[in-house]
Amino acid sequence: MPFNVYVTRRIPEAGLDVLRAGVGRMDVNPDDRVLGREALLRAVKGRDGVLCLLTDRIDAGVFEAAKGAKIFSNYAVGFDNVDLAAASKRGILVTNTPGILTETTADMAWALIFATARRIAEGDRFVRAGKFSGWGPMMLLGGDVHGKTLGIVGFGRIGAAVARRAAGFGMRVLYAEAGDGRAEGDSAAGAKRADLDALLRESDFVSLHVPLIPGPPPKGTRHLISARSLALMKPTACLVNTSRGPVVDEAALADALKAGRIFAAGLDVYEQEPEVHPALLACENAVLLPHLGSATVETRARMAVVAAENLLAGLQGKRPPNLLNPEAWIRQSKVLSPKS
Ligand code: DGY
Repeated sequence: MPFNVYVTRRIPEAGLDVLRAGVGRMDVNPDDRVLGREALLRAVKGRDGVLCLLTDRIDAGVFEAAKGAKIFSNYAVGFDNVDLAAASKRGILVTNTPGILTETTADMAWALIFATARRIAEGDRFVRAGKFSGWGPMMLLGGDVHGKTLGIVGFGRIGAAVARRAAGFGMRVLYAEAGDGRAEGDSAAGAKRADLDALLRESDFVSLHVPLIPGPPPKGTRHLISARSLALMKPTACLVNTSRGPVVDEAALADALKAGRIFAAGLDVYEQEPEVHPALLACENAVLLPHLGSATVETRARMAVVAAENLLAGLQGKRPPNLLNPEAWIRQSKVLSPKS
């Protein structure tokens, strides 16, 4: 096992154990923080494979520095941090970790649905600030969740998992496609397809589950939720985003929250992560989480194992299970067996 790999940040041991057993040399970023650009370029040099994170910008410059590498395994389902075209051009395989974090992320979307509707973060701040002087009939009133309409934007694996949970709350579920439009369709019982504007008008909760696709709608998903879309929503509605930050125009959202044009927003992701728009920080009706969608012990360990297995497969000349750029695989296969 002569393989030489780099892991750009510490991940759960279960994944590192898989790599230890399968490679000759493995170095892990010793600091629990994102590598700076120069450090990243230095670290990937001479490696056969790299296990990277959604917080690493993996572009043509990184692939150039990693000349000779066969595979970059991204420890995330989202891969908007990786320039796939640049990887394919160099015949470098890229993989992600789909499927494993579906249910965990769907749970988090629901946590935000409840936190926004029932003012949970606000209530917690209220108690800690010593403002709770007894039960009051008009104190911190929220809105019901059960029996309402849930609008799911992006009906892939996670969107469908969010929809399935709505049955327990007797909700009507609408879904709209956006961007690449992968639909799980009716697998989430009773969800009805709607166009995005109708969904925004009719939903009490709008939960976003689209990948970040560069460019504006309809082809891209950047600022899919804009001032215009927020204006279509009910003043009692809550917006939840566990997908990618740039899908929402944060400045427009902060304006809408401040003006009471929507009731509340629950955000796990941000346009300029880890920066949070200062106007959002000032909104009492925004629940703000630090990108925790997949953050459970079980799920993060499974992601680590899958990312490590993807990496090993690519190093061993096997087609990795979660390959994102088959064109690079075709290129590698041609190089390995030029006559076929
Ligand atoms: C992902 O995997 O894309 C999530 O954002 C983090 O787990």
